[in-house]
Order: sequence, then structure tokens, then C-alpha cells
Amino acid sequence: MRRKLLLGNWKMNKLNSEAKEFAIAAKPLVAKARANKIDLGVAPTYLSLATARKYSSKAMIVAAQNVHFEDHGAFTGEVSIPMLKELKINWVILGHSERRAYDNETSEKCNKKMKALIANDMIPVYCVGETLAQYEAGETKDVVKEQILKGFEGITEEQAKKFVVAYEPVWSIGTGKNASTEIAQDVCKFIRKTLKSVVGKSANKIRILYGGSVKPENIKAYLSCPDVDGALVGGASLKIDSYEGLLNNIL
Ligand code: 13P
Repeated sequence: MRRKLLLGNWKMNKLNSEAKEFAIAAKPLVAKARANKIDLGVAPTYLSLATARKYSSKAMIVAAQNVHFEDHGAFTGEVSIPMLKELKINWVILGHSERRAYDNETSEKCNKKMKALIANDMIPVYCVGETLAQYEAGETKDVVKEQILKGFEGITEEQAKKFVVAYEPVWSIGTGKNASTEIAQDVCKFIRKTLKSVVGKSANKIRILYGGSVKPENIKAYLSCPDVDGALVGGASLKIDSYEGLLNNIL
């Protein structure tokens, strides 16, 4: 049985002080989630990671939104795995479509980051998804297949067990245009099948999240799909009331 996972991606939002306020307010929610066998987490900006970790319940997942694959060196503006580990940050989102679009993030680069994270016993949340043009051209499965195959290249069955994959159709992110639950299930099932071809049975352990305009009103429908194990939520994860609504609706 795969545990449900609700992860808020704060993107470039929230001051440090606001991250602190949220972390404290979320404490009872983490307890409620735990009691119902749900994992709960947020991904603040680098600047708020230490604060979010310090003021959150221990069981709250605090994830970074990116990381560099080298441990240190002349990489201006980057942050490394040892820097995250020192802050007890063990989860990292990789390959988000906004980074693919604006920051030259590629599946090949994500693969290097995945391997570096594994070597440090950390958990990647690897994002895949097609653009509107690719969706309209009927290329969804070709695109996600290539992203999965390149991202997981050289990852073993044993290493892949703890991984998380997020399917986020780019056309549904921040647009209010939801992918139907049929599309979400169909693509997540296809992702699991593709994963099986690379990492064998571990594909059944990998949690696959859906992301893109997930709200308290629609989260339950997505999570009732057999291959959708949770949600990666942007806008609706920013306010504590809405975050609580997301959780309450999947209890
Ligand atoms: P929204 O929930 O705001 O559409 O964002 C989804 C997302 O990109 C999460 O990573």
C-alpha cells in the first residue's frame, strides 16, 4: 500500500516570517495527517527552509525546490546537497516545468541530481509533464516517457523505491484548467508502466502525484484514481485554510 502524500510547492512565495507562521499553524494538521496515514509537506524557497524546518513538526516534510548536483564549487547562485543536509532537508523537487521552461533544467541534469540525492539517502520528487502544444498534438505519452527514461537512466530497482514522481501537465499549472481525472489516471498509469520498464517492481512502490490547479474541491477526485497517490499543489497550498481544506478532503 502506498501512503498518500500531499506536498505544497510554494514556488517564489512567502517571506521567511510567513513561512514561520505557516509552519506553526500547520502543526495540528501534521498530527491529523499522521493519524490518517497521510504524509504532509511543503517546499519553501531556499531562504525559508531553515525556518520552516525549525518551526514545523518533525513529521512535516520540508522539501527544497531545486539543488545542484555538485557538492561545492564555482557555481554562483546555486545550493548543494550538503548545505541542505546540514539543515535536515531530505526531500528535493526536481525538474519542475517552471525550471525546465525558465532555467534550462533538463531531464539529463535531473538524472545527475537524482544520482547525487540517492548517494546522500535523500528523496527526489521528479516532475514530468507536457506543454499545451504537446498535449494538443497528442504527444503527452511520448513526452513523459522520454522524461522518465532520461531522468531514471542508471537508477536501480533498489534505489528507486523511495522516489516520488509528479505528473503536472504544464497547461493545467496555475491556469485553473484541470486535467480530467481520466487524463490524470491514464497518464499516471502510463508513467508507472514506463517506470516498470526501468526499475522493475519498485515502480509499484513509487508514489505518483498529480499536480495542476489542484484545489480543496477537486483533490478527492484525483486521489481516488488508483495510480494517483497524492498531489503536488501550488496556489492552493499557500494559505493555511486552503491547505487544511486539501487535507480534510482526503482524510
Ligand atoms: P498550481 O496548483 O498553482 O496549479 O501549481 C501546480 C504546481 O506547479 C505544483 O508544483
